[in-house]
Amino acid sequence: MDPDKYRPSSAYNSPFWTTNSGAPVWNNNSSLTIGTRGPILLEDYHLVEKLANFDRERIPERVVHARGASAKGFFEVTHDISHLTCADFMRAPGVQTPVIVRFSTVIHERGSPETLRDPRGFAVKFYTREGNFDLVGNNFPVFFVRDGMKFPDMVHALKPNPKSHIQENWRIVDFSPTIQRVCICSPSSLTIWPVGRLVLNKNIDNFFAENEQLAFCPAIVVPGIYYSDDKLLQTRIFSYADTQRHRLGPNYLQLPANAPKCANHNNHHEGFMNFMHRDEEVNYFPSRFDPVRHAERHPIPPSVLMGRRDKCIIEKENNFKQPGERYRSWAPDRQERFICRWVDALSDPRVTHEIRSIWISYWSQADKSLGQKIANHLNVRPSI
Ligand code: HEM
Repeated sequence: MDPDKYRPSSAYNSPFWTTNSGAPVWNNNSSLTIGTRGPILLEDYHLVEKLANFDRERIPERVVHARGASAKGFFEVTHDISHLTCADFMRAPGVQTPVIVRFSTVIHERGSPETLRDPRGFAVKFYTREGNFDLVGNNFPVFFVRDGMKFPDMVHALKPNPKSHIQENWRIVDFSPTIQRVCICSPSSLTIWPVGRLVLNKNIDNFFAENEQLAFCPAIVVPGIYYSDDKLLQTRIFSYADTQRHRLGPNYLQLPANAPKCANHNNHHEGFMNFMHRDEEVNYFPSRFDPVRHAERHPIPPSVLMGRRDKCIIEKENNFKQPGERYRSWAPDRQERFICRWVDALSDPRVTHEIRSIWISYWSQADKSLGQKIANHLNVRPSI
């Protein structure tokens, strides 16, 4: 399907103003009134339509990663990795796939400054011949929490206080000791394999259509790429599409930036704002009249899984080794800045003595001298 074929486009502009239904507008400045100073008539359909559209211009912003910028380009395979995946778009060096990329901050609102201290998100949509593949990542190698169950709590603690709408350190440091998860990772523990190059050479045409309405989702994969059993990823497989159905509507994958560029077909249809052209009479399966058949089978990991149904506590944790290594890898001035920030956060009058002591104990377990220095600044005795 050509995603642009049935789409209204400002490129088909008429030389004069029209209403949404195409009626010529001869005065786009004045509303229809009784005389020059009288009240406005409800029958001024053009005015009502103009205001109604304006009144509905905003859609809910993303619950996280609201602030972002996108760019387009292509991905080119540079290394043969056909022994690692059968993904069609990775089939050989030289193969190019169009992409759209969105860079984002995480916590703050759509209009927030990019300069705020915040992790960075990086999402790539590959428009492959076998459907879209969304790679949704961020700039740190280990995430804050290990189980998606904690994600909403973590985001609530980092977002502004619901009472004052101000981001407050005491809420952030209050959240973390309760669950005892600290993750700063040492990059040396990762092996990087080069596979290709990403070329971003085109700006988007429209912020709303190609940034605001853009929807990435780690569940969107192609044959040859599959999910790991990671508790975070498993949660995300549900959460992204769920929020997108809410913030964009159930047919969000028909929007041009989200739609696959390859032929696609199924009987999931209708619903709010469905604008796909369809003229089939058979919308069920199986049918002797419907020529569409199952695709060729593609491999999925054959692992056999067995276990008791349970809500399990993650027992084997090592929360302190990597943060310690990371801290020690920094130059002294960076270490000093890190200490200052923690002293500042823990000095907040709403941080209790108990929370302060727990954090000092954490940092002492990561690195003894780090805990000691923070404790000295705060005039607290470390106790581990
Ligand atoms: C269970 C944990 C997580 C949940 C429930 C979650 C949920 C979400 C949700 C609801 C959105 C907004 C999506 C939208 O409205 O379009 C989002 C965006 C995003 N998330 Fe997560 N997330 C989780 C963990 C992660 C992790 C571990 C990463 C990185 C490795 C990540 C990277 C991103 C990025 C880059 C975006 C922005 C995508 C864009 O540019 O539109 N998230 N996440």
